Amino acid sequence: MRILFLTHAFNSLTQRLYVELTALGHEISIEFDINDSVTTEAVELFRPHLILAPYLRRAIPEAIWREHVCLIVHPGIVGDRGPSALDWAILNGEKEWGVTVLQAEAEMDAGPVWASETFPMRAAKKSSLYRNEVTEAAVRAVQAALSRLPDYRAGTWQPQSVPLRPMHAIMQQGNRAIDWERDATATVLAKLDCADGFPGVRDSLFGRTCQLYDGRAFPARGRPGELLGRAGEGVVRATADGAVWIGHCKVEGGIKLPVGGVFPEVAGLEEMLPTTNPPQPPFYKGGSDSNGILGVPPFEKGGTGGIPMDPDITYEESASVGYLHFDFYNGAMGTAACERLLSAYEAARQRPTKVIVLLGGADFFSNGLDLNRIEAADSPPDESWRNINAMDDLCRAIITTDSHLTVSALRGNAGAGGAFLALAADRVWARRGVILNPHYKNMGNLYGSEYWSYLLPRRVGVDQAQAILRNRLPLGAESATTMGFLDEAFGEDLAGFEAETRRRAQALAEAADFAEQLREKNRRRAEDEAAKPLENCRAEELKHMQRNFYGFDPSYHVARHHFVGKTPHSWTPRHLAVHRDLGWVVPGDSGEVSG
Ligand code: COA
Repeated sequence: MRILFLTHAFNSLTQRLYVELTALGHEISIEFDINDSVTTEAVELFRPHLILAPYLRRAIPEAIWREHVCLIVHPGIVGDRGPSALDWAILNGEKEWGVTVLQAEAEMDAGPVWASETFPMRAAKKSSLYRNEVTEAAVRAVQAALSRLPDYRAGTWQPQSVPLRPMHAIMQQGNRAIDWERDATATVLAKLDCADGFPGVRDSLFGRTCQLYDGRAFPARGRPGELLGRAGEGVVRATADGAVWIGHCKVEGGIKLPVGGVFPEVAGLEEMLPTTNPPQPPFYKGGSDSNGILGVPPFEKGGTGGIPMDPDITYEESASVGYLHFDFYNGAMGTAACERLLSAYEAARQRPTKVIVLLGGADFFSNGLDLNRIEAADSPPDESWRNINAMDDLCRAIITTDSHLTVSALRGNAGAGGAFLALAADRVWARRGVILNPHYKNMGNLYGSEYWSYLLPRRVGVDQAQAILRNRLPLGAESATTMGFLDEAFGEDLAGFEAETRRRAQALAEAADFAEQLREKNRRRAEDEAAKPLENCRAEELKHMQRNFYGFDPSYHVARHHFVGKTPHSWTPRHLAVHRDLGWVVPGDSGEVSG
């Protein structure tokens, strides 16, 4: 089928559906919902059998839904209606939530239901629920809806009209406002979570109004509302029954940054993370636990066990495997983040283990350079240069590890340099639903580094490498495995993937031929080095990057500025809007399904 995606943006859910439906053999073209005439034109050009709206903020024009089957993916349970659906579900403490695929009609979210799915709610940020539970449920519901199309066409099946709940309003800042005197930690977190990553909670810090993001429970107490200190670049603020850590904020007219990057006052607060015992990563709690776990959990939801040593990086060990977690906000890895991770990695390398597993974060493995920090720097070109060099240092340390076998285990999506960072390890595993964007060009024709010119072709071949970089399309884990980008994709959900990763990593460490595998890896590395030294790859890549950062063409700086500032799209990129390709012709078939 030809399916037109009508969407506000090519966001993670839209990308996942694109990957899944393409794999099923459908032809997908994308049009951003910019205005009604553009939408009408897209429909005329593509003549779709179906229009799918994975992420829409406005109603579909009547002339279109009357003539075509238009299915809307609504992030709410059956009968739920209106904007801010997930925000309300979090704030209202719903125990179960869901996704409904419904047909567009005159009244918003009121059309008959084609398919629906539910899931248990988890105490997590809205963006995390959206990238995990909502996305998985949406994939299942859209597939179910599509499977009903033949019967619908044959007139043997009709979508169901359902009793509707009252339409909820768009959530306002007043609904999210934190009462620091009275709200307990769980309430504060629900308010922060339901607003993360957009629009944040309006509050104030150091006497200045700002939006708050990235809240986590912190094991401390104090006078409610009081700023108790800092932890890394975030601040710790007392609630009615405990404390929360707030990692990011945004002031009027500014961009989202670590709190310490916005307010110099943070540096004057007392550091609440233990910095001396021991002074170096990998952040031991002090000696081995009875269960052999050395690491300290990050600030888990509601968890007060363990003293966090680094807000983003934790290390743990089990049997002969070291696990390095790095959960940087939005997967963005700035210069200091890369340096901290490198020293944690070096320390992990000193341990008497056999395998090191790079786990990234739960929502993102990595998204490469921290574009927000670069944008906010005094000199974005200089900060870009420092950041890419710090990233390359980290990649080199992983590539040249001769003491361990290394594994990248992608629990969440990876983009740009973050996807190539994953390839620095000997084995690359991913959760089945992970989406990869292993290309740089969308960021103003950025050339990219992270030793991709060495890592990518050796995995997928030269032609495929060029195609991946040129096409700028998301890759699903399954097809990435087929082409050799990944070694394996497994696990239906996060917990399943983590458990299986641990089992496989341990099996790798205990393999009878472990020593042989390590020798073989080192032999291959030496051979590759003799053929072309890593330093040469890096120098070549960086020569292009230097031009991107300091050269005459400002495309990278312009693209980054728009990305960070979230400039609305004014057109759909041609590589997504297939129907706007000059060479594209409607295949001669029987045409549309009427509505
Ligand atoms: N630096 C800073 N912030 C980043 C980031 C980066 N490299 N990559 C993503 N983010 C932020 C986004 O701004 C967004 O912020 P929000 O919390 O304010 O909404 C959030 O992470 C989620 O990103 P979004 O683009 O909405 O997610 P997605 O799943 O739809 O798309 C990517 C994922 C990776 C395709 C997209 O984020 C992207 O292109 N990132 C830039 C990658 C890049 O060019 N890196 C630099 C070169 S190495």
